[in-house]
Amino acid sequence: MSQEIVLRTTNLGKRYKNRWAVEDVNLEIHRGDVFGFLGPNGAGKSTTIRMILSLIKPTTGSVELFGHRLETEREKALAKVAGIVEKPDFYLYLSAFRNMEIAGALTLGRAPGKKRIMDSMALVGLQDRADDRVKTYSHGMKQRLGIAQALLCNPDLIVLDEPTNGLDPQGMKEVRELIAQLSHEHGITVFLSSHLLNEVEQVATRMAIINKGKLVVQGSVEELLLSRAKRIILNVEPQKKALAVLKKLKRVENPTLDSTGIIANVETKDIPDVVVRLVAAKCRVFSVKPQRSLEEYFLSVTEVE
Ligand SMILES: Nc1ncnc2c1ncn2[C@@H]1O[C@H](COP(=O)(O)OP(=O)(O)O)[C@@H](O)[C@H]1O
Ligand SMILES: [Mg+2]
Repeated sequence: MSQEIVLRTTNLGKRYKNRWAVEDVNLEIHRGDVFGFLGPNGAGKSTTIRMILSLIKPTTGSVELFGHRLETEREKALAKVAGIVEKPDFYLYLSAFRNMEIAGALTLGRAPGKKRIMDSMALVGLQDRADDRVKTYSHGMKQRLGIAQALLCNPDLIVLDEPTNGLDPQGMKEVRELIAQLSHEHGITVFLSSHLLNEVEQVATRMAIINKGKLVVQGSVEELLLSRAKRIILNVEPQKKALAVLKKLKRVENPTLDSTGIIANVETKDIPDVVVRLVAAKCRVFSVKPQRSLEEYFLSVTEVE
């Protein structure tokens, strides 16, 4: 079954003077994805997001949202899209509620009703702070208020540029949980950028890595990790018997037992055979996971040549 593509960029590029900030970027985001757009500072994340949200014009290529081309059908393309680039701006001396009214009027063309505002604020856990001035908000609360504003237009796709940037670990966790909630409970497709590896690993289902304006790789987070991993962790019972089976297999190197399970070097293409052998020996295989962290992988693809 083919999945609906909610966002597609084709050969998307942006040149400033004679430098390409973004070059030939082809992205595909499916409905239901939490898509992580990972790259170091200056890689081209914000520039790509600005083009997706139609805030700047691409030098090359095109953006399609929900099957509508941004260039020719801007209104339809953006109808179900909300986004925040870099950090949201507020009127600090006005209440959060009033800020929501103003933001709503700007995006919807009319002031949203009280219920709508409070629903959005409840979604990000700020319903009890609606009457407080934004000045009194913590950085994390402002970030969540920004997301509440974005939710006012009832989006199917939300685009967030480094939503956890500058937050403390607790604030980051709250935003991550909010993103997961938007995805799972409200069926909103999420596109978020980050320069933090473990963040994407924790929250995203699919991801792309951008470096120096170019896409390095894109795919499901699990598959990407697995396909790059040589070292795997096997959760299998009984362990001693499994270890004996693995030791006899030529394509399995250095199987050893540790607290996380059996660790061994196995190439991805050999994993199915290894599993078959274990099963044939009446071992029960619960999981096969890459031991390699996304961090190691990210560093390997973004390394300076
Ligand atoms: N308005 C601009 N004029 C010139 N260069 C820009 C402009 N905006 C971004 N750039 C350059 O494009 C590159 C990508 O920037 P950006 O998209 O902001 O990266 P990221 O968001 O990944 O940190 C950087 O080298 C940056 O200096
Ligand atoms: Mg940026």
